[in-house]
Amino acid sequence: MEVKVAKTAGFCFGVQRAVDKVYELIGSHPDKLFTLGPIIHNEEVVNDLEKKGVRVASEEDLKTLPEGSTIVIRSHGVGKEVYDRLEEYGLSYVDVTCPFVLKIHRIVEKESRAGSHVVIIGDPDHPEVVGICGWCMGPCTVIKTEQDALDFVPPPGKNICIVSQTTFNYNKFKDLVEILRKKRYDNTVLNILNILNTICNATEERQREAKSIAGEVDTMLVVGGRHSSNTQKLFEICKKECENTYYIQTPVDLDSDMFQCSSYVGITAGASTPKKIIEEVQEHVRIKF
Ligand code: F3S
Repeated sequence: MEVKVAKTAGFCFGVQRAVDKVYELIGSHPDKLFTLGPIIHNEEVVNDLEKKGVRVASEEDLKTLPEGSTIVIRSHGVGKEVYDRLEEYGLSYVDVTCPFVLKIHRIVEKESRAGSHVVIIGDPDHPEVVGICGWCMGPCTVIKTEQDALDFVPPPGKNICIVSQTTFNYNKFKDLVEILRKKRYDNTVLNILNILNTICNATEERQREAKSIAGEVDTMLVVGGRHSSNTQKLFEICKKECENTYYIQTPVDLDSDMFQCSSYVGITAGASTPKKIIEEVQEHVRIKF
């Protein structure tokens, strides 16, 4: 069985940096270390950290955390109000928000203070998007689907600043922006659009490579946590190119049915998938099938 693993599979720079930081902090904070939400969308990593004493706290838990606790703000980032609450409760924190996400926070903060209406192209339920909304000092709208874009009513005469969730699909972003571009003619006073493609390069490159490999192979495996949105997007992209595309979390999910009539298998993985799991999947496919 020939196996091709995408070079861009697995942890991106921002996730690697966040995970490394938590492991580094374990030694100095043995029993009062918390991450604000799971550090990444990967159960294996979260469970391993839990065994080492790192607990997951929610925003609601902040008020009741024991004195001396340290909170890690994960790579997705959080809104301004969360920093304010951490200060208010006197909790110390380590901020590992990805610099690319921080850049979006600064953009929307500045633009909204200047009076622009902020449009975020992304999933309104994704923590990164929730965090970005939390830096808008004025109105903001999250657009995820074509229908959302069609329903958007541009506020007359207002400048509109469009940014994107870092892990959003680039082609979908372009399509939605195109709808918004036409929308500006709905008003008698044209809206000035400031379009900022803030999709992370890591995501674009991973998506491009996944698409290209999926187009070559007989079976394509997409490895990642069940709740990882960027892994789900990778799956969608690969499925369009290769009907035999499967979403797996670990080698345990592999099944011989996946490789019927296959001699060439491609593997890619979401940004929150550890290298170790990708290697295990690769080994498993090579040896067992
Ligand atoms: Fe950062 Fe890009 Fe990863 S924004 S967290 S390096 S996907």
